[in-house]
Amino acid sequence: MVASQALAHAAYGGVVPELAARMHLERIAAVVSEALVPIDGDLTALAGVAVTRGPGLVGCLAVGANYAQALAAGAGLPVVGVNHMTGHILAGRIADPGLAPPFVALVVSGGHTDLVHYQAHDRVELMGATRDDAVGEAFDKVARMLGLAYPGGPEIDRVAAAGDPAKFRLPRPVLPDFSFSFSGLKTAVLYLVRDLGELDERQVADIAASFRLAAVETLCIQLEAAVEQTGCSQVVLAGGVASNHLLRRMAGERLRGIAEVTIPAPQLCTDNAAMIGAAGWTKVTRTGFETEAFGVEPGLRAYA
Ligand code: KG4
Ligand code: ZN
Repeated sequence: MVASQALAHAAYGGVVPELAARMHLERIAAVVSEALVPIDGDLTALAGVAVTRGPGLVGCLAVGANYAQALAAGAGLPVVGVNHMTGHILAGRIADPGLAPPFVALVVSGGHTDLVHYQAHDRVELMGATRDDAVGEAFDKVARMLGLAYPGGPEIDRVAAAGDPAKFRLPRPVLPDFSFSFSGLKTAVLYLVRDLGELDERQVADIAASFRLAAVETLCIQLEAAVEQTGCSQVVLAGGVASNHLLRRMAGERLRGIAEVTIPAPQLCTDNAAMIGAAGWTKVTRTGFETEAFGVEPGLRAYA
């Protein structure tokens, strides 16, 4: 079960921290109850409770960490604290239970565009990240320029299906290291939209398709370079943008014969509890449960 706040935040065009924390508080009990339906609400059937420690918005993290630790204490269960970004990557273990390091992960969400060399569970190297906008953020901002609804990524993906991706030539901002920069691509769309004036449905679809192709090709070029550099034969796509139809298809095509590509189901790419469970269990089997109560770490380094 996933409780989405997207509609509530849509009115503001982005996530409002105070509103997000409040909605976590209002919904968490019902979401947990529903998740426990398959085991008839019997907490003793669980090995323990996994919860996100960070990084993220402090209010949201606090609701989750406090609720999880109270729930566990009441049921006499142990707890494991999980890095949210590691959770995104290890969602790949739900898609492919045999998934094991070393592999390269491309983590693409509203806040991250990371190329990660996941050498071992305790040796994770961030090869490159975005220097400005995250790719999901670029999708959301371009969607807004096109008058599409928030969150814009899925909308661009949907509208692009009917557009011509060759209609407008947009830049593929490939940087020499493994980093990314999407602000130039975003600005190119801004100028295009300004020059075209009032857009009809056809133009919106063509711009969406052209932008989607430029963004996804940029991701794939850097991903291929990272695979070549590391010599890894396994790749994992993670984060909300990994539910993009073109990215899912293109990554598999471009890496065919070079690396096996694991892509979680779309509902496991966007934020969800199953990925935290997968990462929690991976951690428990290596180092065990937490031995003391813990607080939240909003600024926790990704993949730490
Ligand atoms: O991982 P996520 O659910 O949340 C965090 O940012 O942590 O990612 C959300 C991002 C948003 O920017 C959303 O627009 C983007 O993922 N997204 C997509 C698609 N589905 C979600 N971007 C492109 N194509 C999609 N199909
Ligand atoms: Zn996330």
